[in-house]
Amino acid sequence: METIIHTKDLQKKYISGNREVPVINGIDLEIYKGDFTIIMGSSGSGKSTLLYLLSGLEPPTSGEIWMEQQAIHGITEKLMTKLRREVIGFVFQDFNLVPNLTFLENILIPAYLVKNDRKALQGKAKRLMDKMGILNLADRLPSEVSGGEQQRCSMARAVINDPQIIMADEPTGNLNSNSSKAVLDILSELYDAGQSIIMVTHDIKSACRGNRIVYIRDGEVEDEFRFERTEPVKAKEEKLLAWLSGKNW
Ligand SMILES: Nc1ncnc2c1ncn2[C@@H]1O[C@H](COP(=O)(O)OP(=O)(O)OP(=O)(O)O)[C@@H](O)[C@H]1O
Ligand SMILES: [Mg+2]
Repeated sequence: METIIHTKDLQKKYISGNREVPVINGIDLEIYKGDFTIIMGSSGSGKSTLLYLLSGLEPPTSGEIWMEQQAIHGITEKLMTKLRREVIGFVFQDFNLVPNLTFLENILIPAYLVKNDRKALQGKAKRLMDKMGILNLADRLPSEVSGGEQQRCSMARAVINDPQIIMADEPTGNLNSNSSKAVLDILSELYDAGQSIIMVTHDIKSACRGNRIVYIRDGEVEDEFRFERTEPVKAKEEKLLAWLSGKNW
């Protein structure tokens, strides 16, 4: 298996008042190319923080993060911004769309920052919107559509620059079950096409879309396992539930 990201003794402490709050406590983790990696763990265990560190949204306190051969600990903000735009597609729980831009504009912004060929990019954005089932909403503002539609727009935005990896922090956390399914179906389709994905989720069904589960407790990797690619969904759900029950999840 080819490694796409790895960390060495990764640590993050937040400063709260005059107190240090240790949140990530020495994580050595390899993320493999083509995997749909799921991060689970109880609330406050550090899942979001880990994803922010891996994506460069937050700097680590100490330790190393490598994206293939590129160190992303201690690099300049300018280089980090470039990596975030070109190498990583991030999907947030609360969508994070720019409120005064249309769907089409929201998707095109990161693309225009990377490439010049506006005509080609508009075509690509529209093809992605079509694939996500939101082409008819190209001229709408985020406030004029549903949460599920906003999340599909943010997925189109995340993939427009053909990122090496997609990172999603509870992408269905604010969605009803129909909208969740639509978003998860898109992630599954991307995964089937070879896209590397990391997703944080609390939800067993969502987690079963992935092929590797990593369990975080108190800012450390406690355990992990892999599904067989051919296992039926029901079997996956039972296996995952049994595994999590053993962790007092
Ligand atoms: N900016 C911050 N300043 C201080 N403490 C923080 C900050 N961000 C997160 N924390 C603390 O770090 C710990 C881990 O937070 P994190 O958001 O990574 O957890 P999580 O596993 O994603 O939880 P959840 O499942 O509720 O989303 C929590 O105790 C949280 O209060
Ligand atoms: Mg979180």
